[in-house]
Amino acid sequence: MAEATISIAFALVFLVCASAASGRGRGGFTIDLIHRDSPRSPFYNSSETPSQRLKNAFRRSFDRLNHFNPSSEAAQLDQAESTIINNGGEYLMELSIGTPPFPIKAVADTGSDLIWTQCNPCTHCYPQNDPLFDPTKSSTYRTIPCSSNQCNTLRSSCSSQDSACQYQVRYGDGSHTIGDYAADTVTLASTTGTSVPFPNTLIGCGHDNDGTFRPQGSGIVGLGGGDESLISQLAPSIDGKFSYCLLPYSSQEDQTSKLSFGNNAVVSGSGVVSTPIVPDQFRKTFFFLNLEAISVDDTKIPFSSSSSASGQGKIVIDSGTTLTLLEQSFYSELEDAVNKVVGRERLREMPLCYKVSASEDFKAPNIIVHFSGADVKLEPYNAFVRVSQEAVCFAFAPSDTISIYGNLAQSGFLVGYDLKGKTVSFKPTDCTKF
Ligand SMILES: *[C@@H]1O[C@H](CO)[C@@H](O)[C@H](O)[C@H]1NC(C)=O
Repeated sequence: MAEATISIAFALVFLVCASAASGRGRGGFTIDLIHRDSPRSPFYNSSETPSQRLKNAFRRSFDRLNHFNPSSEAAQLDQAESTIINNGGEYLMELSIGTPPFPIKAVADTGSDLIWTQCNPCTHCYPQNDPLFDPTKSSTYRTIPCSSNQCNTLRSSCSSQDSACQYQVRYGDGSHTIGDYAADTVTLASTTGTSVPFPNTLIGCGHDNDGTFRPQGSGIVGLGGGDESLISQLAPSIDGKFSYCLLPYSSQEDQTSKLSFGNNAVVSGSGVVSTPIVPDQFRKTFFFLNLEAISVDDTKIPFSSSSSASGQGKIVIDSGTTLTLLEQSFYSELEDAVNKVVGRERLREMPLCYKVSASEDFKAPNIIVHFSGADVKLEPYNAFVRVSQEAVCFAFAPSDTISIYGNLAQSGFLVGYDLKGKTVSFKPTDCTKF
């Protein structure tokens, strides 16, 4: 087996130009983003209680964080690989690959780049509920030669220049996908009912996939900042713009969150605040923001990250982590401030939870997240969630590695990424009406 490794971190600055630059003009479109705990998700388990689901989502936040952890098993791998997050994320996308379009359900992952699905014939595939994509049945499928630029950016070590480009991704938890790097049409289903095809999108056709993948999903759609991601490949036709509007956790029973591209992803109007995306050339996958401070009522706690020479705190914005995870010492100060205001009996749980009787209202402190140039005022549901009749938990928790701005904090905001302007914008929005 050819040992070829995708290097997210060390990829050259190179836009994959084979994609749909010709396609969409400057229009825009919106697709559904399905939370894994919503009834439309194949992961939905109707016998779980809302409280169980939330606790599992909390646990997955810490699992996801572990993949960043340099002391974990991942440290033995190339650094580039250990920063790829597995445990895919919290949202799913429906898309089609090939001609005629073959529908798949994939995890939408802002923590990785490659778009891949399990492919026939399988040398070694994990069990999958839906049928497998068969590239021989797609008239638009073609493999990429090893001599191509696209293959070179993968640092694929090919047996010969004429052979088909092989990719290999090893995720932080030891899961892997190996197969052919290929081009085919990827079709997204717009919420208006039209199909939006992107010919010649580069995808991984995985023939050897194993690890912690679940049978309900057929692969992963990488939405990170690296060259292989859907976002980077679509960038020329979406003017470098995408946005999402995530439903608050409690209101996803019969609606979906939304992911928009191009003109539909412009975030403007009153109440918009914007902060620069902080470039990190070794970790292009992740979108880093500068977090300056967090306020709890009148107490403003500065974030002077010990691991950052500049004294400013970098935080990854991620849809695939439920909790917001903050560097330990900063989190401790934040927790003290929250405890002081809330003044309730604490429950011995992770994260920080308070005892609240069923009939009682929980009065949350005002929390403002101060990014550089953007003060984001959180609603109570962004920071405190009722996990059971008698417990309300703080949706922030400590991290012994990097800090992550999670999806509970982002829900109820239209979050817009402008890759040309290099900003992320936030606008308070009723995502049920978006
Ligand atoms: C669904 O949830 C129940 C209750 O937690 C659990 O016992 C069961 O194993 C779950 N089913 C699946 C398929 O995960």
